[in-house]
Amino acid sequence: MNPLDATKSGFLLCIAVCMFIYTFIYLKDTLSAEQEEQKLSTNRAECGFYPDELCSALFVGKTAALKIGSICQNTYRPAALSCVQTSCNCSTVFKALHFITRPLSDEEGNFSLAYIITIHKELEMFVKLLRAIYTPQNIYCIHVDEKSPTDYKAAVQNIVNCFENIFISSKRENVVYAGFSRLQADINCMRDLVHSKIQWNYVINLCGQDYPIKTNKDIIKYIKSKWNGKNMTPGVVQPLHMKHRTQVSYREYVHSGMSYVYPTKNAKTKPPYNLTIYFGSAYYILTKEFVEFTLTDARAKDLLEWSRDTYSPDEHYWVTLNRLHDAPGATPNADWEGNIRAIKWKDQEGTVHKGCKGHYIRDICVYGLGDLQWIIESPHLFANKFEPATYPLVMDCLERRHRLKMLHQAEVPIEDDWRFQEDNSFNMKLNV
Ligand SMILES: *[C@@H]1O[C@H](CO)[C@@H](O)[C@H](O)[C@H]1NC(C)=O
Ligand SMILES: *[C@@H]1O[C@H](CO)[C@@H](O)[C@H](O)[C@H]1NC(C)=O
Ligand SMILES: *[C@@H]1O[C@H](CO)[C@@H](O)[C@H](O)[C@H]1NC(C)=O
Repeated sequence: MNPLDATKSGFLLCIAVCMFIYTFIYLKDTLSAEQEEQKLSTNRAECGFYPDELCSALFVGKTAALKIGSICQNTYRPAALSCVQTSCNCSTVFKALHFITRPLSDEEGNFSLAYIITIHKELEMFVKLLRAIYTPQNIYCIHVDEKSPTDYKAAVQNIVNCFENIFISSKRENVVYAGFSRLQADINCMRDLVHSKIQWNYVINLCGQDYPIKTNKDIIKYIKSKWNGKNMTPGVVQPLHMKHRTQVSYREYVHSGMSYVYPTKNAKTKPPYNLTIYFGSAYYILTKEFVEFTLTDARAKDLLEWSRDTYSPDEHYWVTLNRLHDAPGATPNADWEGNIRAIKWKDQEGTVHKGCKGHYIRDICVYGLGDLQWIIESPHLFANKFEPATYPLVMDCLERRHRLKMLHQAEVPIEDDWRFQEDNSFNMKLNV
């Protein structure tokens, strides 16, 4: 098939798909032929012409929508985001990327979140994540991997420069999966954050493949109602099968294009201060007082030194310190509770979820279209993992839904630039 034919058949397929959606799924309002024609010409680039109908049907798990969505996704390449491949001036960055430029309510304006975002690739995904969680009263520390290409770093810097409350961490690590550098990256950001003039209440860490499934307001309400003044570090006393992580000494191997952590034959000493080591999530939500404590307390500092040659120390460091009785906001008796991250782990298939409809990477699901309903029904604040290059429609649907929810909850007048889509009868139905 020559490229022209491919484009043509893609286009015909798209038309077929649209007609199908239009006829079978929505059937709500009948548009006049004139309006319909206008829709067709303006939204030609979008998968399904009426993406919100397709998304709404996917969110309730309609089988027909899944079939259409999968066909659609194979040919669909969403339009590139503005200001990502080419650089823009700041007023264009705010407008074209639809950044929300004022607090959407008093409650949100008076409760600031700090975010630590560690990234190394996929600029578009980073921008999508950033504009979803961005509000002017929050503060954002971006840790860009030291080994990322120079043009990637420059592009991130270019966007970040437009915002007074977003900065790149002053110290950068060459991050190795499961290595100490992953923990150190967060700590670098924390040092910068506690010295910032901008005040904040809680800090949340994210990676480049996370995306929020709750709004800024929902996140604040959840923290205030369930965790007021306490830290969230889901985890338990280190189970037997995790002991190897802290019993022998590990090393980071970094070489051009390759890096990993490997065990040595050297046994490790007991943890400092006889600390009981816990095992938990690397994702946390911590108070500012607790962060200050971890940066200054002798036990915290010694535990950090001791953790340098352990396996995946970010999965024991925060939870171990948050189980100390005298740490600020500590939860010594907590377990796995805390709805921080929706993740489909492979070993929880059949219990927590009914399988991954995308594919697994390192036993974690990269979400496909069939996972959308599970994601939006999850009580968690964020979900992981997303790969818009493989499943563009998954990201599009979640983005549209998230922004509609934000604007729906707003208690201030909404500016036109904040909207992703035209307000019309085809807008997504929201279960808010
Ligand atoms: C920013 O760029 C846009 C489009 O290129 C242009 O219209 C606008 O005047 C520029 N604004 C400033 C403040 O330079
Ligand atoms: C937020 O702060 C403003 C100004 O200080 C105050 O008027 C308002 O009542 C506060 N709102 C809430 C929900 O605390
Ligand atoms: C550490 O804990 C063990 C058992 O819990 C105890 O026997 C030992 O004396 C403690 N060591 C120190 C230095 O506190």
